[in-house]
Amino acid sequence: MSTKHLLVALACASLAAASIAAAKPAGNAAAGQAKSAACGGCHGPDGNTPPEMYAAIKAPKLAGQVPEYIVKSLHDYKAARRSNEVMSPQAQAVAESDMADIAAWFGSQKVRPNPAQNKDLLAQGEKIFMKGIGRPDVVAACIGCHAPNGVGNRDWAKLMSKVPAVLAPAVGGQHAGYISDQLKAYKSGKRATDPARVMRDIAGRMSEKDIAAVAEYIATLGR
Ligand code: HEC
Ligand code: HEC
Repeated sequence: MSTKHLLVALACASLAAASIAAAKPAGNAAAGQAKSAACGGCHGPDGNTPPEMYAAIKAPKLAGQVPEYIVKSLHDYKAARRSNEVMSPQAQAVAESDMADIAAWFGSQKVRPNPAQNKDLLAQGEKIFMKGIGRPDVVAACIGCHAPNGVGNRDWAKLMSKVPAVLAPAVGGQHAGYISDQLKAYKSGKRATDPARVMRDIAGRMSEKDIAAVAEYIATLGR
């Protein structure tokens, strides 16, 4: 480990330990590009998994993802809080000191939205994303946490002053199949990485059709 990496790792460790500070974990996107060559084979070199590759491997887009969420996800796989037969072994192989750079690379790339596949579902999906679902099974509007266009909540300073639940990933432009699979995984409880059960509660109140509709809409969003 170089001195620079050691210093960055130490700085990150003390930041996490103190759970304070407005500073964003510093990652170097250019260094991250070189370190992410292996990731590109499944996620696309710039994090825009092409549709045919998504259909085969089910690796989500990472382009434009909130860097802190990429690091959190790698930690979740490494610690087996989240498990996937393809991605879990990949995460094991990523050095702690490389994570911030890799996250900075994918986070700095622009996501390419997907064309609409099912126009009938779009209007219902837009309504759920913008306004949520009313009684009896109230679902909060996705936009409240995932932000306009689904860019995610990337305001680190604001984030640290609130509950961890506001570290909301970017979802706009993601493959619809990935969005619906994750919502189903939260709904069934298979995925339980969400602080304060925020997504398990939300997805648990959504029907299969609600999930399909909001996934279809989110996939078309540009960020
Ligand atoms: C062999 C294919 C493959 C490779 C190589 C790979 N991944 Fe993945 N990745 C996947 C799959 C499949 C998923 C979806 C897993 C799931 O559904 O939980 C995934 C999910 C992820 C997620 C979660 C994203 C989200 O939106 O929740 C992150 C972050 C991630 N990968 C980062 C990486 C990084 C960084 C690398 C390189 C070090 C990498 N992956 C290499 C296949 C791969
Ligand atoms: C109160 C804030 C909040 C609201 C409202 C919210 N989310 Fe989330 N969402 C989160 C957080 C926080 C996470 C990350 C949880 C984790 O780390 O597992 C998340 C994760 C997700 C993921 C997983 C993304 C990935 O890349 O793996 C999807 C998909 C998602 N939300 C969709 C939605 C949809 C659709 C709605 C509206 C019906 C919605 N969310 C409403 C906070 C929210």
